[in-house]
Amino acid sequence: MTDTTTEMDGNVAELRNTVRDPKGQGDPKSYRISKDGETTRHEDAAWADKDLKMYTRDVHVHYGDNHAIKGVSVDVRPNEVLALMGPSGCGKSTFLRCLNRMNDPVPNARIDGTIALEGENIYDKDYDVVMVRLRIGMVAQAPNPFPKSIYENIAFGPRLHGLTDGKEELDEVVENSLRRAGLWEEVKDQLHQPGTNLSGGQQQRLCIARAIANEPEVILMDEPCSSLDPVSTNTIEELIMELKKSFTVVIVTHDMQQAERVSDRVAYFHLGDLVEVGPTNAVIRDAQDQRTKEYVSGHIG
Ligand SMILES: Nc1ncnc2c1ncn2[C@@H]1O[C@H](COP(=O)(O)OP(=O)(O)OP(=O)(O)O)[C@@H](O)[C@H]1O
Ligand SMILES: [Mg+2]
Repeated sequence: MTDTTTEMDGNVAELRNTVRDPKGQGDPKSYRISKDGETTRHEDAAWADKDLKMYTRDVHVHYGDNHAIKGVSVDVRPNEVLALMGPSGCGKSTFLRCLNRMNDPVPNARIDGTIALEGENIYDKDYDVVMVRLRIGMVAQAPNPFPKSIYENIAFGPRLHGLTDGKEELDEVVENSLRRAGLWEEVKDQLHQPGTNLSGGQQQRLCIARAIANEPEVILMDEPCSSLDPVSTNTIEELIMELKKSFTVVIVTHDMQQAERVSDRVAYFHLGDLVEVGPTNAVIRDAQDQRTKEYVSGHIG
């Protein structure tokens, strides 16, 4: 197979064209990724490991000349909470957004490397980006409910994606999602009021309920508690602990205590590099790398 794509020109759409499905060329889970015109083949057995929720290898992100992520490789295990930590500007949000292709529309963003969900390359040209976002949901840093009713905020996704059959089923999904997000009791009598009328903490739970309603497998959260008071933060943290029974969660947090409370593992980033990854206690209490040590002891950040 010849690869017609040479240098990527900074347009993320190009990325999809650089990923080749080697149909008829042996292992269907082994893809060819073009990088700077060279074609390489994945030989890593973990690539096709369905027991891994997500697999990322040698991920690079450039925003124009800014090399924001420099060859990050980290696995995400099923039903874990993986916390991404590190000083401001180190690339946590950038990496998180790569996990469900939210960087695709960013002008000048270029993504290289491999990101797979249960052995499937989510950047494959044949992989529908809508499906990526259905399977990998996202909760943003600031609560961002749609300018619609509470009910419609939740119902929108399942209706759009045809996940429910009829109003009764949709009602059920709305109720269940709100229950799981710990919001039902507070809003059950005002389902048709605007979601934007809720408090910040309630809006964030509404956004989590909205993400859950699509039945994703992975939920990405970018500092979901940064604008919340301690009570709302506590509610969300309890919710994350509950969610990991059914979902896999990748969360960005600056808060060491929060990471210790909710996460199983920490991936520590510094200036676009993944410095170390390991069990939360080990990384926070017994970091191996000097940069991590300085961050956790409050010297960087
Ligand atoms: N949309 C964008 N366009 C251009 N550059 C960007 C964009 N988003 C991020 N960057 C750059 O990429 C680098 C990493 O930014 P990113 O937002 O991922 O960091 P972060 O670790 O999430 O920081 P913070 O803790 O402040 O949220 C920074 O140098 C930033 O300026
Ligand atoms: Mg960020």
